[in-house]
Amino acid sequence: MSNYIERFSTSERVLHWIVTVSFFTLLLSGLGLYSRLFSGYFTFFGGGQNAIMIHKMVGVIFFFSSIYMYLNHKKDVSTFDQDDKEWVDKRGGYLSRDAAHFNIGKYNPGQKLFALYIGAATAVLGVTGIFIWVPTFFPRWIVQISLLTHGLFFVGSIMFVIVHVYLATIGNPGTIDAMLYGDVKKTWAKKHHPKWYRETTNENQ
Ligand code: HEM
Repeated sequence: MSNYIERFSTSERVLHWIVTVSFFTLLLSGLGLYSRLFSGYFTFFGGGQNAIMIHKMVGVIFFFSSIYMYLNHKKDVSTFDQDDKEWVDKRGGYLSRDAAHFNIGKYNPGQKLFALYIGAATAVLGVTGIFIWVPTFFPRWIVQISLLTHGLFFVGSIMFVIVHVYLATIGNPGTIDAMLYGDVKKTWAKKHHPKWYRETTNENQ
């Protein structure tokens, strides 16, 4: 009997990595637009004009792939039950030295919040991005509010993503297997997502 269980299909993983590569491309090409302090990053793209063009093109890829990923996850991330409440009350056990056991489904509330934020941020960044893309088409105040909102949601996104990458790698060993290979160890699943493990395998642990 295998010690592994499938967590993500190939298409789910490809979608996640398209979102990830486009996110970091947007980050590098956008930093110089955000502040002159970072204009050195334009050299990665062969100058400011190229960086802006790439930012726009990749922005379209990020928008559609991220919205699609959100719609794929929507069912699993948009409802919170009593077990999730217990996880929130005890801060997921991250602030305690004692071993914590939570009856968590496919995603814990922190992951759900992250996925919901990224879904909302993608919509906001996409809409404000259109106003910034063709500023002469729209009233000045709309473009100015868009510039501010685009920057704020970008800062929020990068903060969330830093925490996400840490928790998905060093913070919780074994988690990255889910996105690299599609399968995770059964012991990992029983520890981090026991309710999802039971529902998926019909085993009573
Ligand atoms: C090097 C960068 C990244 C790594 C190593 C990484 C890793 C992972 C892993 C391992 C999972 C599966 C977690 C699990 O099975 O419980 C996951 C899920 C997910 N990732 Fe990433 N990720 C990265 C970047 C991103 C970026 C840039 C975004 C969005 C902008 C993103 C959005 C998501 C979402 C929405 C999920 C599913 C739900 C969740 O865990 O919140 N990831 N990621």
